Amino acid sequence: EKGGYDHFMLKEIHEQPDTIFDCLRGRLLAQSGQIMMSGVENHLDAFINAPRIIIVACGTSWHAGLVAEYLIEELCRIPVEVEYASEFRYRNPVVHKGDVIIAISQSGETADTLVALESAKENGAFIFGVVNAVGSSISRLSHAGAYTHSGPEIGVASTKAFTGQLAVLTMMALKIGFAKGTIDETRYQHLLVELEAVPEKVKEILKDTSAIERIAKKYKDASDFLFLGRGYNFPIALEGALKLKEISYIHAEGYPAAEMKHGPIALVDDQLPVVFVATKDSYYQKIVSNVQEIKARKGKVICVATAGDDVIPGMADDVMLVPDADEAIAPLLSVIPLQLLSYYVGLAKGLDVDKPRNLAKSVTVE
Ligand code: F6R
Repeated sequence: EKGGYDHFMLKEIHEQPDTIFDCLRGRLLAQSGQIMMSGVENHLDAFINAPRIIIVACGTSWHAGLVAEYLIEELCRIPVEVEYASEFRYRNPVVHKGDVIIAISQSGETADTLVALESAKENGAFIFGVVNAVGSSISRLSHAGAYTHSGPEIGVASTKAFTGQLAVLTMMALKIGFAKGTIDETRYQHLLVELEAVPEKVKEILKDTSAIERIAKKYKDASDFLFLGRGYNFPIALEGALKLKEISYIHAEGYPAAEMKHGPIALVDDQLPVVFVATKDSYYQKIVSNVQEIKARKGKVICVATAGDDVIPGMADDVMLVPDADEAIAPLLSVIPLQLLSYYVGLAKGLDVDKPRNLAKSVTVE
């Protein structure tokens, strides 16, 4: 049942070239420049005319929502708010008719997300579900939606469902932005081709994970980790920190890299591993300066970097390489080494990576 892998988590990480491919299959037609998503197509006006989009989710799905905020604001020019379902539902939020709510959930059963949607629906919002579990409560409550087609996720930590969510949300942003005319044709075509290339690039990352295993063993006894990123990679820093906490029980915090100097930098000493998501993008020079700031304080720097980068590997203590990609697509790649890092740290510590203590696969209590 684990397909020859020691744990479901490792199996599910390695399934990602296939699950992302399945998610894109029949939807992303890069050759003809089309995206076929009937749930979006049938409600295109709702999206195009939306005064704003509110994304509601919890945990890892909330991180996918943050990536979607960057995508939708860049490509569709629609203001986006990303809400923790539990906060959104209890504070009597302002929701108007015409507002579009995107709910993101692997299980489709998360109680906080479900109840948040029920009340927004009563207020006249249009509810779009990005869900993995077919026929689940959230998918039934939504007016329309798109499944992630990631297959059953057994490991408690979400991995392949997250990349499925990113793939769906990226296609949505591209489809809506193109229909709305807020993305130019060249960039649209370029991003379609880049998205289509993701399964092969993920395969490349997974081909040799020995460097990540070595890094995991080296840092497994650290008591704290900091994860930093900017732009599209900021939510990936948050996700890397969450994965490590869940699987290895090591305290970890994710931050936007530039926020570091507003407080967290006080934590840096020669014992603290700092993971930078530092792929080649429009923030690259800024991230290089942030790496220097940590090195100057003797922190241990581990970087997710772009293959071929000749600067970062000379500065960092350790690197985990990913293939080059457009920055809007990069999160689908840069998260993979962080999933593996948490897996191998948990493994090195002898922990039950598939069933971390205190966690449930779907949180059906409020
Ligand atoms: C993290 C994790 C949780 C879930 C969260 C939302 O690895 O699995 O943080 O992402 O409980 O669950 P869903 O997506 O099922 O609504």
